[in-house]
Amino acid sequence: MCGIVGVTGTKQSVSVLIEGLERLEYRGYDSAGIYVNDQTGNDYLVKRVGRISNLKNALTDDIAGTAGIGHTRWATHGVPSEVNAHPQFSADERFYLVHNGVIENFEQLKQEYLADVNFVSQTDTEVIAQLIDRFVVDYKMDTQSAFLKVLHLINDDSSYAFVLMDRETPDTLYVAKNKSPLLVGIGDGFNLVASDAVAMLKQTHTFMEIQDKEVVIVKPDKVTIHDFEGNEMKRDTFRVDMDASAADKGTYPFYMLKEVDEQPAVMRKLVQEYLDEDGRPTIEAGLLNEMKKADRLYIIGAGTSYHAGLVGARMFERLTKIPTQVFISSEFAYEQPIMSEKPFFIFLTQSGETADSREVLVNIKKQGWPSLTITNVPKSTLSREASYTLLLHAGPEIAVASTKAYTAQVALQAILAKALGMTCDQQAATEFDLKQQLGIVAVGMQALVDGKEKLESIASRYLSEPRNAFYIGRGIDWSVALESALKLKEISYVQAEGFASGELKHGTIALIEEHTPVIGIITQDRTAGLTRSNLQEVVSRGASVLTIAAKHLAQPDDTIVLPDVDPLLTPLLSVVPAQLLAYYTSLGKGLDVDKPRNLAKSVTVQ
Ligand code: F6R
Repeated sequence: MCGIVGVTGTKQSVSVLIEGLERLEYRGYDSAGIYVNDQTGNDYLVKRVGRISNLKNALTDDIAGTAGIGHTRWATHGVPSEVNAHPQFSADERFYLVHNGVIENFEQLKQEYLADVNFVSQTDTEVIAQLIDRFVVDYKMDTQSAFLKVLHLINDDSSYAFVLMDRETPDTLYVAKNKSPLLVGIGDGFNLVASDAVAMLKQTHTFMEIQDKEVVIVKPDKVTIHDFEGNEMKRDTFRVDMDASAADKGTYPFYMLKEVDEQPAVMRKLVQEYLDEDGRPTIEAGLLNEMKKADRLYIIGAGTSYHAGLVGARMFERLTKIPTQVFISSEFAYEQPIMSEKPFFIFLTQSGETADSREVLVNIKKQGWPSLTITNVPKSTLSREASYTLLLHAGPEIAVASTKAYTAQVALQAILAKALGMTCDQQAATEFDLKQQLGIVAVGMQALVDGKEKLESIASRYLSEPRNAFYIGRGIDWSVALESALKLKEISYVQAEGFASGELKHGTIALIEEHTPVIGIITQDRTAGLTRSNLQEVVSRGASVLTIAAKHLAQPDDTIVLPDVDPLLTPLLSVVPAQLLAYYTSLGKGLDVDKPRNLAKSVTVQ
């Protein structure tokens, strides 16, 4: 949440900041701002409420600088307004600060050190800017020492990524992070810092990691890193070979549609990365041996990642016979269940930065338990902090609504479950021809995305008007129903619920009225008939019923027929029409599909 970018050493700093912010807009989009300094005594601060485009429109040709910082905000403290937008600054306008995260003890810091100061914003960030100023001006500290002093005063529960500029040293970015993402980009004669590598890919492919609780001084030709005790840290650079265009929309109207369309390619990429020519998994033996020791697998995730975990649990249980439980990270973090003797944790997280999931990881590490993070973002926080990482290789997912990361999580869990099952000598795992099945999935997904016009017309006919909608299914279809309902509600604002078909009649059926859309997912032999009966029950009460059914279970009037695939992999296909129904419903209502209200892509606050 919130996107940060900083640059020093280029006259193009305004355009570098704006381009970077545009790439980071998925992280928050209620207000944005930049501060630039040209090192000859001129500096500029521009902030606007709303999207980056509003900020861009407010920029005039005279606004230029050789260094600067920028921010796109998802409000935590204080409403979205120009006053609360970042950069925040000290009262004497010497220090400018951008911040992503939450300073939990900002009220105490305010009372203890700044009782005489008039604050203009409601943000915790302004407190930090004013506090640094206090230590520099009143206590005569140099800026770096004052910055470090303040970092020491911020309590451990807080999260932050900070980039600070001082008018007296305008070529220097003072940088630090704790729990919030931030990394350095190394340029030729200039350097950058940003929340995500995608914001810097136009300028560089060489990056340097920042670890929690380090102070990083970024100058045009030099980057130095110290830990909080003042020890200088050596850090290697690494390359990200991704093309900047991988994060472009291309000719697509919205990222979400592009990302839905990319799913067949993501399936093929996962096959290439994790299965050999003969279809044997190539996952490292160290991870599998560690997992084999477990008496129970615990899958942890939030939102869509939690839903992917619900599917994954079925795969692990069927292919490995190891009991597997799935938890919502924000629940597990504060109410840990009675644990088994030898747990192994699997964290599912597209971004690798979700604060709720990280809280669990920190807790379980303290208890000495091993973990794996399955993520789309290399070197993300959860990836660095877990014992093992497997990458989703889905390419950047920019739309707030997760699509290709969900299907990649499901497919990679299938591969891992097969690999672990084979390590545990499970016949079902050995016999599972996953390579062939994922090939069928990729072809099936392609057919579904190629037939998207049908979903556009279904969305406009059934989903544009109603207030409520339901997805129902049993077993693995129920897991997909939950994800399908989340997609619909988050981008189209239709109140949608995913329901276990059999459970509907135990209360919720009271909500069914004339033309309430109820979408049944029917892919499993054992439960197909039961779900069809449950659909009949709602038809009798006036519902408009749609069906997404596997080919071998299909009936003539089913709405969408899916190609047949192994029953464990049906979510990879049944979710695609649901993603497209959500997309077209949102589009039909004229909404911003990629940036739904109140949301942000990477949820780095608890
Ligand atoms: C919904 C969505 C969210 C995320 C959730 C967890 O479309 O994207 O529900 O799945 O915020 O995010 P990650 O996977 O980054 O941990």
